[in-house]
Amino acid sequence: MSAVLPSFSTWLGARAAHIEHVLDKEMPQVDIIPARLHEAMRYAVLGGGKRVRAALVYAAGYGCADNQSGNPAFERALDCAAAAVELVHAYSLVHDDLPCMDDDSLRRGQPTVHVRFDEATALLAGDALQPLAFDCLAQMPVAPEKIVQATQTLAQAAGSLGMAGGQAIDLESVGKVLSQDALQHMHSLKTGALLSASVMLGGLAAGADGPQQGALTRYAKAMGLAFQVVDDVLDVTADTSKLGKTAGKDAAANKPTYVTLLGLESAQIMAKKLHREAIEAIAPLGESGRYLAGLADFIVLRDH
Ligand code: IPE
Ligand code: IPE
Ligand code: MG
Ligand code: MG
Ligand code: MG
Repeated sequence: MSAVLPSFSTWLGARAAHIEHVLDKEMPQVDIIPARLHEAMRYAVLGGGKRVRAALVYAAGYGCADNQSGNPAFERALDCAAAAVELVHAYSLVHDDLPCMDDDSLRRGQPTVHVRFDEATALLAGDALQPLAFDCLAQMPVAPEKIVQATQTLAQAAGSLGMAGGQAIDLESVGKVLSQDALQHMHSLKTGALLSASVMLGGLAAGADGPQQGALTRYAKAMGLAFQVVDDVLDVTADTSKLGKTAGKDAAANKPTYVTLLGLESAQIMAKKLHREAIEAIAPLGESGRYLAGLADFIVLRDH
């Protein structure tokens, strides 16, 4: 992330520390029974991750209502939504790493949950993190109809027409050559859907109007796809210690990716094109969109 503006890096670091604190408070403590399950949940969620999805919630919220920054109810609504998307994300990683899926032993620089604990505990930790996410949304200090809308946004992003569906297509696609459209569809579901929901939940907390929602939707579509394109690129170009997860796994598992479809250089060009689309999309937000712009830079320029 060396090429990202220092002031943005500072903001992102502060947001990551803040959401860590929020998540810590939302998670049951390890002395509450069943202690081992709670230990596994906390292990999966706390102490790692770039926190891009949480940052997208805040960036979209401030992007649409900069003037509400510091208002306790607004900040709490953003915290609840940011915690919710990070909890769904953490659950998706725990299950993604299971032997029946990607069979990975390293995540965020540590043994994966099923390696550190056991498979059944990893399954249950994922199971328990997902409803905890919806519990967080239910605590948003906003009008009840907004909570309903937020619930539906996250449910659709996580379900069979979103992340879980994308994961199913990912597993069905092993060893196959997908068309670019089919690959794009898979990526937009398995990764794009939750990233988009993060952006839209920030907008919802901010009471975004129609034009703002339109800008967020276009930004989210481009960045959601760009995120997985860069993940595919980093699987080839980055090393395991930097990534905190085993590099080279996609090729080893015979997964179709943007790199296998287009080649490394074209995949990188594609990420840059999506970055431009995202930046253009948020032009109507003006200076308030600065954190969304910073995140677009970070997502495309990151090295882990
Ligand atoms: C990894 O997501 C899984 C994908 C959807 C590509 P991240 O790269 O955001 O993982 P963390 O949260 O930083 O560990
Ligand atoms: C995972 O995609 C997407 C989800 C967890 C929903 P990958 O399988 O490429 O993620 P990594 O590379 O293991 O983080
Ligand atoms: Mg996977
Ligand atoms: Mg994986
Ligand atoms: Mg990957």
